[in-house]
Order: sequence, then structure tokens, then C-alpha cells
Amino acid sequence: MCGIVAYKGPKNCYPILIDGLHRLEYRGYDSAGIACLSDEKITITKRSGKVIQLEHGLKVNGKYENCNGSGIAHTRWATHGKPNQINAHPHKDDSGNIVLVHNGIIENYDPIKKFLKSKKIKFKSETDTEVLVQLIGYFFNKGKLNFEQSVRAALQRVDGAYGIVVLNKKEPDVMIAARKGSPLVLGIKDNEFFIGSDVSPIIKHTQQIIYLEDSQMAVMKSEEYKITSIDKDVSLPKKVEKIDFKIDDYDKGKFKYFMHKEIHEQIHTIRNTITGRAKKDRVYLNGLMEYWTQIKEADKIFITACGTSWHAGLIGKNLIERFAEVPVHVEYASEFRYNKTLVDNKSVVIAISQSGETADTLAAIKKANEYGAITVGVCNVAGSSVARETNCGIFTRCGHEVGVASTKAFTAQVSVLYLLALKLADSNDTINRSSMKAHLDFDDSINKIKSILKKENEIRKVALKYKNAKDFLYLGRGLNFPVALEGALKLKEISYIHAEGYPAAEMKHGPIALVDKDMPNLFIVPKDKTYDKIISNIEEIKSRKGKIIIVTDSRDKILKSLANDLILIPKTNHYMFCQLATIVLQLFAYYIAVGKKLNVDQPRNLAKSVTVE
Ligand code: M6R
Repeated sequence: MCGIVAYKGPKNCYPILIDGLHRLEYRGYDSAGIACLSDEKITITKRSGKVIQLEHGLKVNGKYENCNGSGIAHTRWATHGKPNQINAHPHKDDSGNIVLVHNGIIENYDPIKKFLKSKKIKFKSETDTEVLVQLIGYFFNKGKLNFEQSVRAALQRVDGAYGIVVLNKKEPDVMIAARKGSPLVLGIKDNEFFIGSDVSPIIKHTQQIIYLEDSQMAVMKSEEYKITSIDKDVSLPKKVEKIDFKIDDYDKGKFKYFMHKEIHEQIHTIRNTITGRAKKDRVYLNGLMEYWTQIKEADKIFITACGTSWHAGLIGKNLIERFAEVPVHVEYASEFRYNKTLVDNKSVVIAISQSGETADTLAAIKKANEYGAITVGVCNVAGSSVARETNCGIFTRCGHEVGVASTKAFTAQVSVLYLLALKLADSNDTINRSSMKAHLDFDDSINKIKSILKKENEIRKVALKYKNAKDFLYLGRGLNFPVALEGALKLKEISYIHAEGYPAAEMKHGPIALVDKDMPNLFIVPKDKTYDKIISNIEEIKSRKGKIIIVTDSRDKILKSLANDLILIPKTNHYMFCQLATIVLQLFAYYIAVGKKLNVDQPRNLAKSVTVE
């Protein structure tokens, strides 16, 4: 999704903003732009394509060394209007006084545009954003309102979601940021201010930050700042926090792609997630304790999320039903928010989100809160909207995830849900102490991740054989059905190969019609109670000449004889098998995409965090 970085202070803003834009690239975008306000002059440079092209343009034109003032910059992921230079942000108003960057969508742009056109205001782009900057300009240029009042007046008239930063050459010592529905973070350091759509462009400069809340505005004037409201001119408390993100999270280190780095980090991140929470035969989830009585006595548990987080939710359902014997309903957040719901004040709604900013997931939480449910966030970003909007929660603690294709966040989410299932089971007396102890004995299994990573070259060789496939089926049962869905999603996202995940036996009810000699079928085969059944499913595909790839912990000869390719993973418990299989599938998708020479970290059309509906 779009990214924002802004700077106000004594330094040259260009290097700060360009570095910030590079750090925002992971979010996905198709054009970029920058505006600098210096000596009461606004200079705007925009490019379609990548930040590097924008940077090059600035250097060639000699602007790069030369802007001591304020600056705003943006990476745009097109919603209204093509991804070209004209539609790229920043946008300015007709008078050229006001310049703005915007994340989100202005829903009532059409009537406002018609109104402004009736006032002879000329538009240059196709964007909803230009409507907002023109509206601010309209109020300001009438001469009755100052800059801050004009921004407030305009924001009171727009519907939709926004995070904005605005500059005005008639009030050059002021920078204004505002948010509704689209996150913005303010970083503070002595006499300098930084704004980011997340902390990534700020973290290098300061750890002192304020997460702007919905309907809040930050007004920075000279070296002072205030937090105020979009609704009225009041002074609100400044909730300054110290963030503990590490700058290392934003560097690729020895890896070519963040996704690859993040796959490798799982050896540590899964351990981080459980540390202090799994101790001998007990689970400690301090973030839930205030609401634990209601959680353990809930009549119904709902899990809601999108994409990869939804797949983790399906695993969570399986684990909670298996261990705690409580029925769990899993629903896409985009459906949950509009469907008739059976949620009530005896329900628990678990919302899973890596970023904590996914628009549909936030809307689902809002709905659950309105119905009186206890809302539990499983989220990776402290201070994010999910963390703030839920009653309680469990952080996944896997560090900042940069690759658009989620990897370490998924295995961390699954780890959290595993702990939650065991804790519920303990409270419900559906598990005994010795089983708890056995299930919480992770050390050996986590070490087995190392052996998967050591097999990387073997996985790479298998993956490269299939890089020209057009379609893939991923098949698994029980806990490994969501793993199949997740493996197929990873392949689609980064290699653009069509892939579907199915429960292995369900394949006979339709998808088998697709199978021919060119179609690879990846089976996830743990040696468990469904083992023989999956072998029959494999035979069915084999007899129709489909190619068979098997990921298994079984050394049985029959599998070798059925497989075109077999990837062996170490023996472990049922739960850890699905984590190990997931890592194999992440590497498999990664190497196919690398083999196809694709940009793994920034797949086409995708955004890291989907903050619009
Ligand atoms: O930040 P979230 O977990 O809420 O994001 C949900 C999905 O947008 C996300 O998982 C998406 O499917 C990823 N690109 C998957 O790799």
C-alpha cells in the first residue's frame, strides 16, 4: 500500500526522504514523488516506477543537495487513476500554495470535485487525493481561515480513510499531519520531526514516537508541536512512546531478498514467540489475563483475518478444537464484517494480523466490539490499530516483516495459537499435566528447523524443475490443509503461477479434472492416521499421469516409488510437522520465483499491508 515519509527540521530533507522512501518500498507501490518547501518555494519531483528513478532524477537535476526546510514524500499504490507520473503524489492545489501526500481513499471525492469545479478550480490528475488538497486550498485561499483551520475544515467534509501530511508555502514553518483509518507515526528528536506511515522510515533517526490515533492531527510549527483533533481545536495529550524495533530488521544482511532472510530467521522467531510463555507444563499469556475468565468461559470462539493470517486461523481452529474441545468458527474478515453474525457478549473474537493495520480485519474487530464480544488481537506490531482496538492480545514477536509474502509472521501466529489452544485446554481440563509438558517441549523440534534450512539446496533443485509449470495443486489433510493453502498462496504471490490448496481427499470432487502430465501436485504427507488415505489420493493422481512432489517425514519406500520428487523432513510431533512443512513450501515458492528472475520482495500488484477495503 502507499507509504508516507515527511521531515521538518534544519537538515537537507532530500537524503532523509529518499532513504525513507527506500525503506517503504516493501509495502508495494507503482510510483513515487517528493516535495520540498524551502525559501517559500515548493519543488515537486515525481516519477512512475521505482524510487531509484526518482532519486536519479533529483541528482541529475542538482536538487538533491539543496533543501533545508520541510519535505513530504510518498510511494503510491494506485487506486483511483493509472500509476503514472501525473497521478503520483505529492499533489498541489490550483493556487500552488498547498502540497499534500495521502494514504487511503476519499470516498465522496466525486461531489466535492464537482463543487470545486463549479468554483473554477482546475484539476490535473485522476486521483481522489487531488480533491482533498484542492479542498484545503479552497478554504485557505478564501482568506478567512489559517492553514490549520483550512485542513480541519476540509477533513470534516471528506468521507473515507486517510493519513495525510500537508505543507503550505504561505505558512512555511508549519507542517500538518492527520489520520483517520490509515496509520501515521510521528517521530520526535530535539528540533526535528519525522512522519511515517509506519516506523520504518523513522527508526533510523529517533525511537521517540507518537502513534497518531483516529481523528487526530499533529501540527508542527517552528520547533513546537501539538496534538489536536480533526473535529475541534483542542489540545490533546502527547503520548510519546519508545519503540524497540531494531534497524537490523530493515536490512537484508547477507541475503538478496528480505523474504529469504525472514525464512531463515524462523529458527529464532518461533523461539522468541514462545519464550517466557511456555514453561514446563504451563502456558503463560499475560496479555490475556485481564479477560481470561470470559475467554475460557466463552460459548463461541470466532477467528477472523485475511490472507496468510487467515490460514494461521484455520490451524488455530484445528488446535483449539482438538485440545480445548471448544467449537471455533473461522471467517475471512472481509466477510465477517458484512455477514449476519452470531457474535454476542459471550463470544470471543480472535483477530489475527501481522501488520495490525489491515482494513477488513479492523472493521471485523469494530463489529465484534459493537456486539459486546471480547476481542483478542494476535498481532506483530505494538502500537498498531489491531493492538489498540482489541480488548487484549498476544504479540507474535517475530520482528519487522518486510517481504510482502508473509513467512515468519505465519509461523509465529501458528505458535501463538498453539499456546492459546493448550492454555484453554488446561483451563477446560481437557488435557493432563504430562501431556501439557510433552506438548510444550519445543527445544528439539525447533532445532529441526535448522535441518530444513540445511536442505535448502535440495529444495532449490526440486523447485527449479517446476518453474515453468502453469498450475499447481497443493494437497494436505487436517493441520496440513491450511499449510497447503498457505504454500499455494506463497507460490501465487511471488511466482505468478496459478496454485490451489485443497484437502487431499477433496481433490476427487472436481480438481482432479485438471490433472494431466504437465500438472505438478504437491502432497504434504505426515506419518499419521491419514497416511494410508493420502497414499490412495496420490495413487489416484499418479494413475492420471500427474507429477507428484511429496513433503514427508516418512521414509517408506512406497512414497519414493510414487514421487517424482520427495523432500524429507525430520520426525517431530504433529504440530511441529506443519511448521516444518510450511518452511519447506516457503523455500519452494521462493526458489521458483528466483528461478523466474522475479522481484520476490515486491511482487506485482501486491501491497504489504492492505489498509483500504
Ligand atoms: O497484515 P495482515 O496479516 O493483516 O495481512 C493479511 C494479508 O494481507 C497478508 O497475509 C497477505 O495475504 C500476504 N501477502 C501473504 O503473504
